[in-house]
Amino acid sequence: MSDFRHIRGKPSKEDNDLALFLSRWIRAPLRIGALAPSSPHLGREMARAIDARAATLVVELGGGTGRITRALLDAGVAPDRLIVIENDEKLASLLRIRFPQLRIVQGDARDLMSLLAPLGVTHASAVISGLPLLSMPPETQQRIVEQAFALMGADGTFVQFTYGPVSPVMGRARVGLIAEVTGRVWRNFPPASVWRYRRSALPSQESEA
Ligand SMILES: C[S@@+](CC[C@H](N)C(=O)[O-])C[C@H]1O[C@@H](n2cnc3c(N)ncnc32)[C@H](O)[C@@H]1O
Repeated sequence: MSDFRHIRGKPSKEDNDLALFLSRWIRAPLRIGALAPSSPHLGREMARAIDARAATLVVELGGGTGRITRALLDAGVAPDRLIVIENDEKLASLLRIRFPQLRIVQGDARDLMSLLAPLGVTHASAVISGLPLLSMPPETQQRIVEQAFALMGADGTFVQFTYGPVSPVMGRARVGLIAEVTGRVWRNFPPASVWRYRRSALPSQESEA
């Protein structure tokens, strides 16, 4: 499963990522939430939803094999301004090897504030989530979104992708948030939409209202 050499020579990084992802999905399908890592196209669209160069600190939730992480760095987020939270032990280890310049924290995004406290981090400007939010119970969703905004304050930006047609932040977790779709990505399996959430409108949105 983890070796496609018999098909076409040395396996590529993408083959290995896919095999690792599938093996983690088989162990915990709801927790992994996808059969394959996001495409580079989806990674770029997620990164585009924030002002990467102006961000004071970006926290990525559910780093997986690092597709969105890579896109955030490529978009200009400085390595010392990016922290990745990943719950799965194997995926967290891979991220540490692949991104030695980043702070990778293995833990549950439900406990975001307490995971970051030992790093001396109490504020971030954006939280980018690749979590399978819709597979989670409503209380867990709500807790994760609350933790993200507790970390960011009123001016923060929360970004989440979804494969479905509706907002991936729902119910009580959505209360008080301004939501918008920032892009749709067909070149992903499955195709996905990127949603951005804020507590307060951006100045440009206020003047449009
Ligand atoms: C759909 S995958 C996305 C991975 C990667 N960001 C990408 O786009 O390819 C979801 C990831 O979130 C991680 N995850 C799920 N629940 C989590 C939680 N409560 N806290 C932290 N990570 C979690 C999974 O282990 C998995 O790596």
